[in-house]
Amino acid sequence: MTVEIDKNRLPQHIAVIMDGNGRWAAKRRLGRIRGHRQGVQAVKELVRSCRELKIPYLTIFAFSTENWGRPGEEIEGLMGLLRQYIRSELKEIRDNGVRIKVAGDLSRLPADVLEQIDYALVQTANNKDLLLTICLSYSGREDILRATRRLAERARAGELLPEQIDATLFSEQLYTHPEPDPDLLIRTSGEQRISNFLLWQLAYTEIYVTAALWPDFDKDELYRAIAAFQSRERRMGLTGEQLAAQAQPEPDEPPMEHTDGTTDPSNSDPMGS
Ligand code: FPP
Repeated sequence: MTVEIDKNRLPQHIAVIMDGNGRWAAKRRLGRIRGHRQGVQAVKELVRSCRELKIPYLTIFAFSTENWGRPGEEIEGLMGLLRQYIRSELKEIRDNGVRIKVAGDLSRLPADVLEQIDYALVQTANNKDLLLTICLSYSGREDILRATRRLAERARAGELLPEQIDATLFSEQLYTHPEPDPDLLIRTSGEQRISNFLLWQLAYTEIYVTAALWPDFDKDELYRAIAAFQSRERRMGLTGEQLAAQAQPEPDEPPMEHTDGTTDPSNSDPMGS
C-alpha cells in the first residue's frame, strides 16, 4: 500500500545505492545479469516517480570503480544493459524533461558506450525538470582526490592561495557540481554502508536503508523512503530549539503602540491571523 507523503516537503535531491541485484537473481536461480536487467526496470520506475513528484535531482550509483574487479562477463553484461537502457529510454527521457549527466572516470568505459552517453547528453542537454546523474566508474574517494589535485594544480600555478580553499571552492571541483548535496540517500538490500559513494556530498544527508532488494524497489518503496525522510528532524549541527526558533517567522516591525496604550493587532500577531 502506498503511504501518505507531504508533497510540499519532498527531498529535492535523492541519491540511491542500488544493491541486491545478484541476490534477487540467486533467489530465483537465475544468472546475475538477469538481476541487473530487472534492476534496470526499477531504475525506469524510479525515474518516472521522481518526474511525477517533480523532484529535481536524482543520482544513482550504477557502476563503482571497484565494480571493474567483477568477472568480465558481468562487466560486459552491465555495459550492455547501459547501452540498451540509453537506446530504449532516450526518447521517453528526452520527451519528459529529464537531463542526463554522468559522473565518474569515463576514460575506462568502452568507446561505443561513451559514444552513446555523449549522444544522450546532447539530446537531453536543454531539459530542466529532472537531472538524472548516473554515477559510472565512480568512487567517492577518487572524486575527492581529483578535486584536491585540481586545486593543488591551481595553487602550484599561483592562481590560488591554500587559505582560499574552503568548502564552497572544494565542492565546485566535484563531479556533482553545481547540484545541491543529496537530502536523502536510499540504500537497498539492508546493507548499512556508504560504499565509497558520494563521500563529501553526503555529509548531512538523511540515510534510509530498506531490506528490499533493488529489483523489488517500486513506487511504494520510494514513498516509504520519503515518508521516513519527512519524519526526521534535520538539525545540520544545530540544536532542536535553534531549529524551532528559525522556523518562527519574525514579526516585520515591533507592535505599534497607540496613544491609549493598546497595540495594533495586525502588527502584534506574527502569523497575521
Ligand atoms: C549492485 O547489486 C548493483 C550493481 C553493481 C549495478 C547496478 C546497476 C543497475 C541497476 C543496472 C544499470 C543501471 C542503469 C542506469 C542502466 P549487486 O550485484 O552487488 O547485488 P548483490 O549484492 O546481491 O550481489
